[in-house]
Amino acid sequence: MSSTTRPPAPSSDDPRPAWWVGAVGYEVYVRSFADADGDGIGDLPGLRTRLEHLAELGVDVVWLTPITPSPQRDHGYDVADYLGVEPAYGDLDELTGLLEDAHALGLKVLMDLVPNHTSDQHAWFLDSRSSRGAEHRDFYVWRDPAPDGGPPNNWVSHFGGPAWTFDAATGQYYMHLFLPEQPDLNWAEPRVRAAFEDILTAWFERGVDGVRIDVAHSLVEDPAFRDNPLLTNVSLAAATSVFERFAHIHDLDQPGVVDIYRDWRRIADAYGAVLLGEVYVLDAAKLRRYVTDDALHAAFAFATIEASWDATDIRDQLRPFVETCEDRLAWPLSSHDAPHAATRFGGGELGARRSLAYLTLLCCLPGVPFLYQGDELGLGDGVLPPGVAEDPIALRLEDVPGRDPARTPMLWEPSQGFGFTTGTPWLPFGTNHDASHTVAAQTADPTSQLERTRALLHARRALPALHGRTSTTWLLEDGPVIAIERGEEVLVALHVGDGEGPATLVLPEHARLVVATDDRTVLIDGELTLPEDAAVIVELEAGTEVEGRL
Ligand code: NOJ
Ligand code: MG
Repeated sequence: MSSTTRPPAPSSDDPRPAWWVGAVGYEVYVRSFADADGDGIGDLPGLRTRLEHLAELGVDVVWLTPITPSPQRDHGYDVADYLGVEPAYGDLDELTGLLEDAHALGLKVLMDLVPNHTSDQHAWFLDSRSSRGAEHRDFYVWRDPAPDGGPPNNWVSHFGGPAWTFDAATGQYYMHLFLPEQPDLNWAEPRVRAAFEDILTAWFERGVDGVRIDVAHSLVEDPAFRDNPLLTNVSLAAATSVFERFAHIHDLDQPGVVDIYRDWRRIADAYGAVLLGEVYVLDAAKLRRYVTDDALHAAFAFATIEASWDATDIRDQLRPFVETCEDRLAWPLSSHDAPHAATRFGGGELGARRSLAYLTLLCCLPGVPFLYQGDELGLGDGVLPPGVAEDPIALRLEDVPGRDPARTPMLWEPSQGFGFTTGTPWLPFGTNHDASHTVAAQTADPTSQLERTRALLHARRALPALHGRTSTTWLLEDGPVIAIERGEEVLVALHVGDGEGPATLVLPEHARLVVATDDRTVLIDGELTLPEDAAVIVELEAGTEVEGRL
């Protein structure tokens, strides 16, 4: 297996851990990754047997979706105990073993921390709802009914319906931005803050290398609980996309939320750990407030997932983040909340080709590119038979496929159970997924998505200009080719197909092809012929002028 040594991170007064700067990330949806005990549910022992796949792929950092005990109403994003391990996944000893195995392979591990809400089965909430005077009453957001007895304001849940549920026993409403079974914590309560500082410390003490922070922009609410303005005149009963019809000026991205991360940063820094926020804020200037040398190390730039297969759209969406947030970013190719890149960009072989080309671009942006499991196989969303929905979005909202298609089990081997399980998978395999999509079938085939992805990640690792804060120059303002120079040494070009065929770019004579996602790419004496839906990474001699010559 090919491998490359990572050059040392450029020395600077960068306060972030060196292992983060220049890293490549990978999201593991634990439930669907690898099942060792045959119950059809992915688990930690299964994951341990597959860590080598990630190390060989060229991944540096693995983010695990929540593994803490949970009634699984939102598949772990409803936490019943922040310090334990969900029994279906393993126990604390397994987690320690997993961390040891990962570290031995050079992998860092991020846990998913869910601070916005707990499960309604968490001991805090059980106590909180027991009486108005309960010890943990103020751990959650309780309000009196409106004068007409209805909810205290017009806020709605991401998952449909009002963001408030009436608790008859104590005569007040509690707030939940997600399911009623996911009550929001009250971050105005100092004991909540103290509890989470203890939780963070406990995970870092155990050897966890950092946390991905769930809905990191949602923790704080408007103290006056004012109504959100309605963007268009729709009735609350039409719940499907009601969330998008409000301007979320009072429930999301509130002043004060970054202060929480300042406290956390001091803890993380003491352990050399990283704070990575799921900050779903698509305005780069607003996102920048979260990612500073004394708050979050990085946040996901979800512009990657919002952008369509259109050069102008990709440029317009991604560029403000690069220009505003430097390399304090993570760039998701896909995630467990959205369709796989291969599906978003057209499906089938075309979608897979575009996904790899897009990843090549993401690998050359400042920050940490993140693959989602299956991306390395060119996997598109699984086609599922009717009646198998597990995602609360699909269960609660009509005519919405929900997120299950992106969460079908990983495909390891071309056998019954695809090497994922010997039992019945908790969510069926996609009927469109077959042996050709497995890790085993693609290994050692240099033309496979897996081997091309591996080559890309190893090439990135060996190019210091792609790590850290080297300059980023956008060379072409328009047209179907996106071209970016990093430092003065590396150029990436992505041809976002427009149906007009290959593009020709004139580069410096000594330009050297390092990665080409399409074998029809040609580079002779500086003349590059780049097919549609393909990308290249080219090494330049430091100091050669590129601008204006394309
Ligand atoms: C974001 C997570 O990625 C998603 O899966 C979850 O449903 C919500 N946050 C609520 O925790
Ligand atoms: Mg299992």
